Amino acid sequence: MSDFEPVIVTIDGPSGVGKSTISRKVAEALGFTYLDTGAMYRAVAFFMKQQQVDISDGLAVTRGLDTIFLELIAPAGEGDDVGVRLNNEDISEHIRSPEISMLASRVSAIPEVRVKLTKLQQLIGSKTNIVAEGRDTGTVVFPSASFKFFLDAAAEARSLRRVRQLRARGEQANEKEILEMTITRDRNDSERAIAPLKRAEDAILIDTTCLSVEQVLARILEVIGLDR
Ligand code: DC
Repeated sequence: MSDFEPVIVTIDGPSGVGKSTISRKVAEALGFTYLDTGAMYRAVAFFMKQQQVDISDGLAVTRGLDTIFLELIAPAGEGDDVGVRLNNEDISEHIRSPEISMLASRVSAIPEVRVKLTKLQQLIGSKTNIVAEGRDTGTVVFPSASFKFFLDAAAEARSLRRVRQLRARGEQANEKEILEMTITRDRNDSERAIAPLKRAEDAILIDTTCLSVEQVLARILEVIGLDR
């Protein structure tokens, strides 16, 4: 038995708050693995859509989940997202669309999905130092993490960031629609019965509305004790 105790940093918050960019940079600065838990929910959503699984049918969801094998692919370069291989097929380019974002939010409220993905996340976090990013990483997945952060920002600021991200990827983005989706996702993610989006009591709150990525990063690294 190894007595290696991984160091775990959790960064939770609503969609579009800048978690991915910040988490990736924190992981880079610390030399830790970046665990994008949202990418896993997105992959399950993609699977359910591809296989035409009725997500209101618990048995069908469980059967589907039993056939899923997920692997995360580290971001290829600066600014790239985490990718996912689903049953050995690289589905990275399909999981970041607004449609999959909405479906991921719905699928993530299904207990069986959360149980499976939480276990997988905990397994990864038992082997290596990680920066975990999501909605419940500080509350449910890694309640005894060494450092916990909760990022927040006004819905308008967050949806504008999403619009810019989508456009930068060459995708269409309607500002009004994305704002509505952001608000709906916030509601789904914070009002669901299991593992809702919420700040862990011991998580440090950072409002990113008026802060640059560099400022948020500096604050987090200062708390962790790695001043730059
Ligand atoms: O972080 P993201 O936008 O990639 O996440 C997609 C969806 O997955 C989000 O709407 C809620 C869900 N999710 C979750 O329920 N728990 C997590 N730890 C991460 C994501």
